[in-house]
Formats: sequence, structure tokens, C-alpha cells
Amino acid sequence: MNYQEKIEKTVEFIKNSTYAVALTGAGVSTESGIPDFRSPRGLWQRFKMITFDEFIINRQARQEFWEMKKELLPELLNAKPNEAHYALAKLEKMGLLKYVITQNIDGLHQLAGSKQVIEIHGNNREALCIDCGRFYKIEEIIEFLKEDIADVRCSNCGGVIKPKIIFFGESMPEREFNLAQTASSQCDLMLVVGTSLQVYPAAGLPQLAYHSGAKLIFINQTETPMDELAEVVIHEKAGKALGDILKEFKRGC
Ligand code: APR
Repeated sequence: MNYQEKIEKTVEFIKNSTYAVALTGAGVSTESGIPDFRSPRGLWQRFKMITFDEFIINRQARQEFWEMKKELLPELLNAKPNEAHYALAKLEKMGLLKYVITQNIDGLHQLAGSKQVIEIHGNNREALCIDCGRFYKIEEIIEFLKEDIADVRCSNCGGVIKPKIIFFGESMPEREFNLAQTASSQCDLMLVVGTSLQVYPAAGLPQLAYHSGAKLIFINQTETPMDELAEVVIHEKAGKALGDILKEFKRGC
């Protein structure tokens, strides 16, 4: 199949589905200027990945984590949705997409207008003291970081503040992950967009969908280890491919 045939096939699958969902990863936001993790210029080339245990018990690891956030948070908070986010929001509005299950913490799907977003890796907007549970907005944390505070501590009890993102080694948020699993096992079509499918349990969701009888469409710039499971594999930028899918819908109307 050439590119245009893949776009047409995808539109046909979406039209024929009664329960379509999308699973997105960092690749859906690179066109908004947010780097992904595992591409040659990805974050894990520049920063050390800190695990949950390290963050909780190791002051040095926390300092490295907050150094990274100090650099990344302003651009993350200023980022705007791109064509890929808008296209998924539009599909939901047209009644063609039930959920966006996302590994991203940037909130760009919601900013683009998606209402049914399941954030399985948490979000970047909030943080909590792990001792007293005091809630912090990310803007307050940015103020701490501006003051060059290396180890961000709770102003209430001095406890460790943890952003509401899911670290490696941390359990998944129960409600969100249950919902994501249910949607994956009930859907008849899953669009998998901008994820390397290397991180579990998120990467198990397309497998769950596939083994429950759903068709898979992959839109990713590079190959993934699960390409052979998909009916259609589009190696293209998410913004272009999803934009072209929407155009094809309009052409057919
Ligand atoms: N369009 C389509 N695909 C893209 C684009 C784009 N514009 N830009 C990058 N990609 C692809 C890359 O080729 C890569 O395969 O998106 C994928 C991103 O993969 P990762 O960097 O591994 O990101 P992701 O799969 O979301 O990572 C999963 O790992 O470190 C953790 O918690 C973090 O949620 C994240 C998880």
C-alpha cells in the first residue's frame, strides 16, 4: 500500500468501527516542540532517568530530577497543541473516537479539545507532598525552582514533594489504568500514535486490544516492535498523517 492508500484504508476502518480509541506517546507532541524520550535527540540522551525509589530515598537523585524539570517545565507549560492533537480532538467531536489513552503528561490533548483523555502516566500540572499530602500547582514548584532550591520540600511539613507523574518503578494510577485496560479490551479499533512501545504496562495495551479482536493502526515515524500486529502502519509524522486522515474524511463527505 502506498501512503494515500494507507490513509484511505485508515478512514475506512474508522468509519466501520463502533468503538475506536487512540493510544498516544511522546511522538504526538514533538511537533509542539517537546522532545520525546528515545529518539536520537530524546530526553534520555541528555538526562539520567530517575526511578521512583531513587527519587524517594536519594537526595542527589531528586536534585538531578529537579534540575531537569527546571530546564524543561517552562517550555512544557508554554507548548501548544499541534495538528495531531487537534485531529484526535476532532475525531472525538465527530463521535468517531471514544478515548485518547495517553502516556504524555503535557496536557496538550485536553488543550486541543479532547474531553475523554486517560492519562496513564500522570500529569505535569500538579504535585503532592508524599508525607502530609499537601497539594501544589506546578506554578508554585516553578517558583521554588527559580529560587535555586535544589531539593524541593513541602512548605507545610518539610516532606518530599513528588510531581503527579508516574516514575519508572512506581505503580500505575489504578483508576486510569483500569479504564485504559477496559477501553483497550472493548475497542474494535486502536490508533497507536507516536510511541516506541518499549515501556510496559502501557505497551501491553495494543497487545490487549489486538488479542481482544481489535484492529490496530500505527502512526509512528520509526518502526516499533509491534508493527506486524497492525493492519496499517504509517511511518510518517503524526501531524501530517492525522491531518491527512481528517482531510480524507472531509473529501468523502
Ligand atoms: N510523529 C510520529 N512519530 C514520532 C514523531 C512525530 N512527529 N516524533 C517522534 N516520533 C516517534 C519516535 O520515532 C518514537 O518511536 O515517537 C516515538 C516516541 O517514543 P519514546 O520516545 O520512547 O516515547 P514514549 O513511547 O511515549 O515513551 C513511553 O517512556 O520514559 C518514559 O514515561 C515516559 O511516557 C514515557 C514512556
